[in-house]
Amino acid sequence: MFNRVVVIGTGLIGGSFCLAMRKAKLGREIIGYDIANASLDHALANNIIDRAAKDLDSALREANNDPANLIVLALPLGATRDVLKLCYDQTPSAYIMELGSAKNHLLTLGSLWRRNKVECRLVPAHPIAGSENNEIGSARADLFDNCKTVITPLPAVATNCVEKIGELWQRLGGDVFYMDLPFHDRVFAHTSHLPHFLAYTLMVSLQREAHLRGIPNYSAGGLRDFTRIAASDERMWNDIFEVNRPELLMALRDFQQSLAAMRQILQQGDTQKMQTTLGEARRERYRIAGRPPGAGLDVPQHQYDYVSAPTGPLIGELRVDGDKSISHRAIMLGCLAKGITEIDGVLVSEDTLATLNMFVAMGLNVERQQDKLSIKGVGLQGGLRKPLASLACGNSGTSARLMSGVLCGQTFTSYLHGDASLTRRPMRRVLDPLRQMGARMFARNNECLPLFIAGSNTLEGITYALPIASAQVKSAIMFAAIQARGETLIKEPLPTRDHTERMMKNFGYTVNCKQETIQLKGGGKLNAAHIRVPTDISSAAFFLVAASIRPGSQLFVRDVGINPGRIGIIRLLQAMGGKIDLVNARHYGSEPIADIKARAADLNGIQMPKELVSAAIDELPVLMIAAACAEGETVIEGAGELRVKESNRLEAMVSGLKKLGVKVQETQDGAIIQGKRTSPLQGGEVDSYGDHRIAMSFAVAGCVAEREIHIRNCAAVATSFPNFEDCARSIGLDIKHGPSPKKNPDATGPGHRH
Ligand code: S3P
Repeated sequence: MFNRVVVIGTGLIGGSFCLAMRKAKLGREIIGYDIANASLDHALANNIIDRAAKDLDSALREANNDPANLIVLALPLGATRDVLKLCYDQTPSAYIMELGSAKNHLLTLGSLWRRNKVECRLVPAHPIAGSENNEIGSARADLFDNCKTVITPLPAVATNCVEKIGELWQRLGGDVFYMDLPFHDRVFAHTSHLPHFLAYTLMVSLQREAHLRGIPNYSAGGLRDFTRIAASDERMWNDIFEVNRPELLMALRDFQQSLAAMRQILQQGDTQKMQTTLGEARRERYRIAGRPPGAGLDVPQHQYDYVSAPTGPLIGELRVDGDKSISHRAIMLGCLAKGITEIDGVLVSEDTLATLNMFVAMGLNVERQQDKLSIKGVGLQGGLRKPLASLACGNSGTSARLMSGVLCGQTFTSYLHGDASLTRRPMRRVLDPLRQMGARMFARNNECLPLFIAGSNTLEGITYALPIASAQVKSAIMFAAIQARGETLIKEPLPTRDHTERMMKNFGYTVNCKQETIQLKGGGKLNAAHIRVPTDISSAAFFLVAASIRPGSQLFVRDVGINPGRIGIIRLLQAMGGKIDLVNARHYGSEPIADIKARAADLNGIQMPKELVSAAIDELPVLMIAAACAEGETVIEGAGELRVKESNRLEAMVSGLKKLGVKVQETQDGAIIQGKRTSPLQGGEVDSYGDHRIAMSFAVAGCVAEREIHIRNCAAVATSFPNFEDCARSIGLDIKHGPSPKKNPDATGPGHRH
């Protein structure tokens, strides 16, 4: 990727960077320089660098005549500016990357480049890694594996430089975010610099107070945990505190206010308030650790496993969570409309919160009480604020695809970021039509996230025939179309869920739908609306299948959305002999809903009709469980899209079913599943591969399996159906959390193929 890499500063970060570059083979030759001879000698002796430069000038000279060279500054902050000025003078063509943990002091250097009309090739990056031991002896090749790396582009920098450095970190195994440079310093003042300042301060205070002398000798875990970072290098932290002084002072002011408030609660002896406050803090601590409250911070992964045991008949009435697709759209259109939009029954899950939080990051004012939202919409143009950091889509494909359509028509630049699963999922399907409309969007990594959206208010309407049936792609184009000049026509190969069409009409926008063509014009207005969200048929599907396969079961599922693009699950279960009845059909606004009765039935294997496969795309995993419990063979075709969902769902389901003793064959775009007579569902251990629908499908299978089914890695259920476990238990399913009998050996599994 680079020819020569010159690393200036060979401490922990610089040394680890060299090792990681070597491991990933991203530089032909690595040259190091450090003012401390011992550090440089160690780097050379331990093969961390290829060569050592004798002084700074010669180090820079190594990089100055080839634009494929990279200079990396891993220096104490106090030295960075002077070295950067030298870089600017002596190496006009190399890429320069700076790795410090405060960035504001670089802003004036950015204008140095611009003033002299030299292309700015300096990219500040901050890998959030390190330890209290800052010496090269602690350097590790894997220090940056899965490490969040924040890139803070300077205003004057060339886009290709930012892209190149982003790609570098991705290839080093980092999880790349982009952030507005001044915002970076505010964020890290709170999350890093303040905690270090406090840790040092606590040691200062313990040491200084005469009457406390001696107490540190009895330091409990609390003191040791709290002050571990006070063992860090004082020169380095002195530098950081000095360089980020204004932001650290602001963070300290905020902290002092909180400290005063806590002190007051203590002084008043208000134990109730104290307990509530501590409880909230504790939950937040778990949240940042990505752990469920109460499980212990270093809870092993198996706490997220499900153990689903055989049960008796499933009997009862239930109401599942709000519809995910409709909730996303209601939030987006509510934010883009003028006026106050009220949404009732919204799904509050990780996916929909990702969408909501993106708008909050763009200045939206949203109030939430349980599943009710009140959104003060800002209008389609000019109302959203430029986000200060990458917008995080998490695991949510709908957020990433639909927000691409929203953001490409705004005037500001933005970045979309996703988790590991979403980063593997294809984005070209939305980039192609949006680029045809004039959007300027850049993706690395085979057109996947992270995505850089340059923003444009000159989108033009297009006529576009979708090459694949996808409601997400259709909707992304529709969101761009309402911001574009002229008319847009979208043709679908097969009808898909039409929630966006219905919802835009709810917000007063004219959308014409004739057969498989959707027509809409840009320049219209969205008016605030009151939306009632039906419950999610994709979540209800797990219980419809459970009731069908467990003899003696009888369920009543209330208020379920039955959009024509979503009822493939019902038609398919009925075609298999399922006893599924829709009753009390009515509407929530423009969306049809009904209550659903589901009774146990003797299911038969079928050849699934293709148009129903497309209308049941999210329910196919659980339908594969139904097929395994049916009489005879079931053939699924035309389901290739399953390979690019949250996991490769065909592979995940087929491998899981095989592990449970089912005879099943994976085909290119589907599967052939033998029913219960040939191969009854036994117990065993399967992996969800972090995919919510795979997890819930196997959890349902447990009720009829011969023995327990252990399902690994089920935390993602929270992305779409946070109340799954409660709903499941309320009708008699036996789902517990628990350790798997074996450890998780799979580093790889059904990911995505391109
Ligand atoms: C969705 C559309 C479908 C579906 C996804 C949600 C939507 O994806 O699988 O869970 O809300 O538009 P595709 O449009 O990619 O088929």
